Amino acid sequence: MAVVAVVGAQWGDEGKGHIVDILAARAQTVIRYGGGNNAGHTVVNRHGTFKLHMVPAGIFEPSTLNIVGNGTVIDPKHFLGELDGLTARGIAVDNVRISDRAHVIMPYHAMQDRFDEELKGDAKIGTTGRGIGPAYADKMARIGIRVADLRDPVLFRERLTAVLAIKNRLLTTYYNAEPIDFDTIYREYVAYGQRLAPYIADVYPDVQHALEANQSILLEGAQGVLLDIDHGTYPFVTSSQPGIAGASQGAGIAPSEIDHVMGVFKAYATRVGSGPFPSEVDGAAADALRQMGKPWAEVGTTTGRLRRVGWFDAVAARYATRLNGIDRLAITKLDVLDEVAEIAICVGYRHNGQLINHPPSQPEIYAEVEPVYEVMPGWLSPTQHVRTWADLPANAQAYVNRLSELCGAQVSMVSVGPGHDQIIEVLPIL
Ligand code: IMP
Repeated sequence: MAVVAVVGAQWGDEGKGHIVDILAARAQTVIRYGGGNNAGHTVVNRHGTFKLHMVPAGIFEPSTLNIVGNGTVIDPKHFLGELDGLTARGIAVDNVRISDRAHVIMPYHAMQDRFDEELKGDAKIGTTGRGIGPAYADKMARIGIRVADLRDPVLFRERLTAVLAIKNRLLTTYYNAEPIDFDTIYREYVAYGQRLAPYIADVYPDVQHALEANQSILLEGAQGVLLDIDHGTYPFVTSSQPGIAGASQGAGIAPSEIDHVMGVFKAYATRVGSGPFPSEVDGAAADALRQMGKPWAEVGTTTGRLRRVGWFDAVAARYATRLNGIDRLAITKLDVLDEVAEIAICVGYRHNGQLINHPPSQPEIYAEVEPVYEVMPGWLSPTQHVRTWADLPANAQAYVNRLSELCGAQVSMVSVGPGHDQIIEVLPIL
């Protein structure tokens, strides 16, 4: 019995869905701790292929409690659509709880997100356009609407009146946009609140009960630690804390209760949106990594955007590992490298002739660093059918071992395809 946090350790899209799907089946409580429907977790299991955005991956086990934690931001319409989609496919959703402390993404958030990106021009972040940044900004500015407010029409009227006065002033005078009609939005969101009511709870007792009962608890991350608001490539980041600090805060679990931190790394690297990416490649190397046309091609789950691709960046990986206390690694999509003859790993950055061994804090400098590569021979044989470490080609073992050494953490899992069983479990964690 353990509390395990699964954190994305690059720029998101590491294949966390696959890993949490496997671990969730062994947990009694799964808590999604941050982000919103900017995330997209692809899960392929006995029920089919699912793209989860907010609902925790424990949803496929009827006895597992799935908590959407206080650290998330929730678009109620989207969330209800996700619940309906699962129900329509025969997956019961009555074991979902939404923390009443979580914040609500309102229509003006998506508008602000879009307008801000337009105003930034070339400096735009390339957000998912879901209103994530403005929703977290309002939370911090203490003008957010929380899930608890939605459940109570009287309280919600009060809150919305106060907030809409600010937002409509902003929309009309700063953005030159039309104001939002109070009655329309009020009615719409009260209706969402009614539909969500059976799932909304103060989850503190549930979490405490899970801890006291010594349950296996999985803290499910979203995005990746290089998109962290503090430690990521600011300002090209998301507005939450995808790492271990965010897991504790966003799930409502004391840091000392967390036994293991599993960092999920792709065997190479990808990024969507703008921002530094020193080991990025283009041309034929990018085509090989992007795997276009295959079901696991590097196209965003949420946005459908082509992902930028590159070699594994061990400098950023070690930084992510150290900052988050990652003690176990999941290396995903190893099979994508099956046909690559020479595999590069970025082991250092050079800037103005100097070697740097951790990511610079300023994106302008980060964008200028030159990657220093180490090249390893590929294995040039298929691995998708491999299920044990011993059956992995020697060069693939050597590659994974090198990543482990560079990060300074032990490998727990290696994925060799999108299927539920396409996993090599080296060191079980739950
Ligand atoms: P936002 O989270 O929509 O504000 O987007 C901010 C940045 O984070 C953009 O570069 C997005 O592409 C990136 N981002 C947000 N969520 C994800 C994710 O789940 N996977 C990968 N990138 C993400």
